[in-house]
Amino acid sequence: MRFVAIVVSVVFVVMRTEAWSSWGGDDTVLEEEALCPEPQDIFPCVCSNSSILSMKMDCSDVLDEGELAGVFSAFFPIKAFDKLTISRNQFLTTLPDGVFGDVSFTNIYVTGGVLQSVGEAALTSSFTTAKFLMFNNNQITDFPFHILSNFSKLTSMSLADNNLNELPDLFSESLEHLYINKNPLGSVSVSTFTGTPAISVIYLQETNLQEIIPGTFSNLSHLSTVYLFRNSLTEVPSLAVEFPSDKGSVYLSLNNITTVAPNAFPGMMGGTVEVQLNALTELPEEVWRPLLEEGVNITPWGNPLVCGCDIAWLLNTSFIGQIDPMFTTCEDGQKLALLDPADYADC
Ligand SMILES: *[C@@H]1O[C@H](CO)[C@@H](O)[C@H](O)[C@H]1NC(C)=O
Ligand SMILES: *[C@@H]1O[C@H](CO)[C@@H](O)[C@H](O)[C@H]1NC(C)=O
Ligand SMILES: *[C@@H]1O[C@H](CO)[C@@H](O)[C@H](O)[C@H]1NC(C)=O
Ligand SMILES: *[C@@H]1O[C@H](CO)[C@@H](O)[C@H](O)[C@H]1NC(C)=O
Ligand SMILES: *[C@@H]1O[C@H](CO)[C@@H](O)[C@H](O)[C@H]1NC(C)=O
Repeated sequence: MRFVAIVVSVVFVVMRTEAWSSWGGDDTVLEEEALCPEPQDIFPCVCSNSSILSMKMDCSDVLDEGELAGVFSAFFPIKAFDKLTISRNQFLTTLPDGVFGDVSFTNIYVTGGVLQSVGEAALTSSFTTAKFLMFNNNQITDFPFHILSNFSKLTSMSLADNNLNELPDLFSESLEHLYINKNPLGSVSVSTFTGTPAISVIYLQETNLQEIIPGTFSNLSHLSTVYLFRNSLTEVPSLAVEFPSDKGSVYLSLNNITTVAPNAFPGMMGGTVEVQLNALTELPEEVWRPLLEEGVNITPWGNPLVCGCDIAWLLNTSFIGQIDPMFTTCEDGQKLALLDPADYADC
């Protein structure tokens, strides 16, 4: 029944396609073009590869918001698209409410352009279909975060490399990957992720963070990776990032961290704590030993380690292999791996 219905609609669309002959007689092409709107109705957008489950629309060449809205008010034989691409467009500064009409997308990529804002009803037609929302590399200052909970299947969202200067509390039952890196956020509140129970990977590098508020990354039962490198952190407090008893990794390189508190990363088993290129002078046993015992790898190279009695505990343990000992040097240039435990006998 369904097949018949599709064939009938294909035939119907072919019949009303004036530009048909210019597309050749190949059967594959026939089916593809028949599922797309007429090319001239959606120009300068291009509809392609339209097996019914992989309809794609590229609108990279639209000249303004009005033209984009015009395209989506054309006749669309099939309204459920797999992907929308608007790449490196230098004209669209906003996605206005209703701009996509009732055409929906599973993957939305509006990237590398000059977008500044997204209307709260711009993406409504994709609430039940969107899995990927990619808005990276734009100039977004204004994003309707409060509609996240309306996307029932959203798993990945990128707003990386934009101009967002705050991140409100997020609510999404489905969101797993959040890319918010490279925005001048300055801070992230303790409740930001409380409403994202499925979150697994959080990209918060290069967001000018000054501090991690204990509990911000707690009670997230799928959390596996938190990227915090290239921020302005100076201290890592107790309960900074808490993992649900599985491998977890936290990336803290290229900050200005002078101290890491004991119990900073509860729940880590295996995985990595990257702390290279910071301002650590010591590697206290109470901070690092419990992690090393759980099989966590640490990368303390590029820190001004004084290599005093604070590291005596580490030298003749089997754990030293977990800290990049040939790469990690004391402030005076000596490799940790080559220090003589006997020199620390008086500690
Ligand atoms: C076109 O559709 C086919 C079948 O759905 C899919 O296998 C293929 O990857 C698609 N090609 C492109 C370029 O998207
Ligand atoms: C979005 O979800 C909220 C509740 O989470 C609901 O109140 C609101 O009506 C929804 N908005 C739309 C446009 O469906
Ligand atoms: C985590 O959840 C437990 C139990 O619901 C609660 O007691 C605790 O305060 C929460 N921790 C944080 C940091 O929110
Ligand atoms: C790092 O922090 C120290 C104080 O703890 C400060 O003197 C220094 O300027 C900071 N460096 C950078 C690059 O922010
Ligand atoms: C490690 O060194 C300390 C101090 O030199 C010594 O007391 C301890 O027995 C050594 N442990 C091992 C496993 O060699």
